[in-house]
Amino acid sequence: MKRTVSDVAEVVKATNITWHHGHVGRPARQALLRQRGATLWFTGLSASGKSTIAFTFEHMLVERGYLAYVLDGDNVRHGLNKNLGFSAEDRAENIRRIGEVAKLFADAGVITMTSFISPYRSDRKRVRDLHEEAGLPFLEVYTATPLSVCEDRDPKGLYRRARAGELKLFTGIDDPYEPPETPEIVLDAHTMSAPDCAQAIMKSLEDRGVVNPTP
Ligand code: ADX
Repeated sequence: MKRTVSDVAEVVKATNITWHHGHVGRPARQALLRQRGATLWFTGLSASGKSTIAFTFEHMLVERGYLAYVLDGDNVRHGLNKNLGFSAEDRAENIRRIGEVAKLFADAGVITMTSFISPYRSDRKRVRDLHEEAGLPFLEVYTATPLSVCEDRDPKGLYRRARAGELKLFTGIDDPYEPPETPEIVLDAHTMSAPDCAQAIMKSLEDRGVVNPTP
């Protein structure tokens, strides 16, 4: 029987292992850092503004005294995920790994932004479930920039190469993107500036009690 993408992502080879509980709990870390950890999961097409907004928001948080960190798709693919390509299986594994890393960061107390296309709903749902099971805040942030705008921007020249047939499986061209159905935050990242988008995210985190209201 053919294995599905989610079977591949769920395969368990690690057996005879035991969870080792530490002596420092999440509340102690939260008290030390004076903040709660959370994951903000940015999703959207390449060049839709995910990384620009995530890094702008990280800067805004740090300036307000919060420990924050961006796990960026292109950056993570330089190291941890350098052995993964762009097939549905590899994208699922990319998202699975980074979902687990984001969960660890959030558990450590860091406000964590992930910036990955993450084109498949099932992959994103798995990551959301992981956070919900762990009792950690998870917000899906959709950069809803239309394909035509992303293609016009084309900062890395990849859309042009994909249209020319030099690059296969390019999201939006010959590979799918499944928009979120109920994201916590939708950003019109093509009409709003990055600082305005970051401000909108801050407001949403304030409303949810993840960060304190602006003094
Ligand atoms: S994801 O689909 O697995 O979430 P990820 O965000 O890590 O993708 O990487 C996307 C980045 O890889 C793009 O911004 C682009 O720079 C580069 N890239 C190279 N090939 C592709 C491709 N076939 N599809 C999409 N992005 C690609």
